[in-house]
Amino acid sequence: MSAQNLFVMLQGQQVGPVSKRELQQWVRQRKVKPSDLVWDELQGVWQPISESEETRNIFLQSQTAEKIVLAIGGGKGGVGKTVITIALGMALASFGRRTVLVDADLGGANLHTFLGIEDPEYTFFDFYTMQKSSLNDILLDTSLENLKFISGACGTLGLANPKYSQKLHLIRQLKQIDADYILLDLGAGSSYNVIDFFLAAGEGIVISTPEPASIQETFYFIKTALLRKLTQTFHRHPELSSIFDVHGYFNDREATFSIKELYKKVENIDNDAASVFQGILRKFQPKLILNMVMQSEEALEGMALKTAVGEMLMLEMDYWGFIEYDEDVRNAAMQKKPFMIWNPKSRAAKRISQIVSAKLMNFSRLKSYLENKRLQRNLNRLNAKVEPTSQETIICSVNCLYWDECEYQNGGYPCSVRHLENTLRHWEK
Ligand SMILES: Nc1ncnc2c1ncn2[C@@H]1O[C@H](COP(=O)(O)OP(=O)(O)OP(=O)(O)O)[C@@H](O)[C@H]1O
Ligand SMILES: [Mg+2]
Repeated sequence: MSAQNLFVMLQGQQVGPVSKRELQQWVRQRKVKPSDLVWDELQGVWQPISESEETRNIFLQSQTAEKIVLAIGGGKGGVGKTVITIALGMALASFGRRTVLVDADLGGANLHTFLGIEDPEYTFFDFYTMQKSSLNDILLDTSLENLKFISGACGTLGLANPKYSQKLHLIRQLKQIDADYILLDLGAGSSYNVIDFFLAAGEGIVISTPEPASIQETFYFIKTALLRKLTQTFHRHPELSSIFDVHGYFNDREATFSIKELYKKVENIDNDAASVFQGILRKFQPKLILNMVMQSEEALEGMALKTAVGEMLMLEMDYWGFIEYDEDVRNAAMQKKPFMIWNPKSRAAKRISQIVSAKLMNFSRLKSYLENKRLQRNLNRLNAKVEPTSQETIICSVNCLYWDECEYQNGGYPCSVRHLENTLRHWEK
């Protein structure tokens, strides 16, 4: 047996030969435990995978492998943050990465609805009210292997503005979630609740459409995030606190500064602080996905925004690509199904899997082609499994949300609104 060809014992069955690469993947997917046995060629005995000379490193690497937290934001409402978060998660999960979607839209949680889940068993509410002490306890399954999600606290408006300490606790806990990728679906706007989640994640993706108002808001979102970061870094500095204050506003009311001017001011006061400033500019590299592109020229708006961010904010923004306006995305949303499952061959689904394979998985072109074909087959199979629902046969009842206002209340007629009952139940209170 060579190092590349291993034999393992899984639930009493010998499996193999498997390559080290395959075994690595199984470890990542938790298909094998450290105590499962591998044939140790050198010693001529079966050994736990975590102890054998050949395979020990695979476990060590998996324990130290950094989990990646990605926040998806961008300022403008309705630009596709939630559907793209779900689609990115589905692609990652299909490529074998354990992925968790987090509905971090504290004021308008709806990620579960796009997944077709009407009444999530647990939500952030259970975590806030301490009924569940860890976010791992409120993880919910999806129809896709490797993909779980945390539902927002739908309909509980009090959670839209958590205290700063609650926010810190939540952010710390987010980093404890057991997964390879954690994707945060942020709410609209550039409030500090949203920005703080964006900054807490290792990587931030901004979603914009090509429309000027959306481009403008995305630019403002990135600028606000950068200023918040600078403020958090310098607000205790004895001399620089005259420029920044703890709330992120500039104390100097006489002028608003461009980032370049701000840098010059900091440089004039403290050279070391200027180096820290430069480090922040180097490290803060938001990614951009342009959504709902209708004509190919519109995709250039992404390049224009990238250039503006470079020139005016001194930041290197990575333009990850664009997604066309695609009726399949809308139709899928109408049916409360992720578009990746609704039509894995849709243009939008293909764009997402290309973005994930090129930017997150670093696949070669050939591997990317093969993996994307496999992803389409897998998601297609999943789509076929979903039973069509019929609204025709639903007869009204006293439990209906619209009881008293509905002309069918004497029963016996098919009801055209009853299917909304579960979707709206949380918002009724
Ligand atoms: N590429 C697309 N093609 C067609 N429709 C799209 C596309 N992307 C998103 N949509 C539509 O836009 C709607 C809004 O998307 P989504 O809810 O993901 O936006 P959002 O940015 O999360 O909104 P909010 O700011 O309210 O959270 C979806 O219901 C979907 O139908
Ligand atoms: Mg959303």
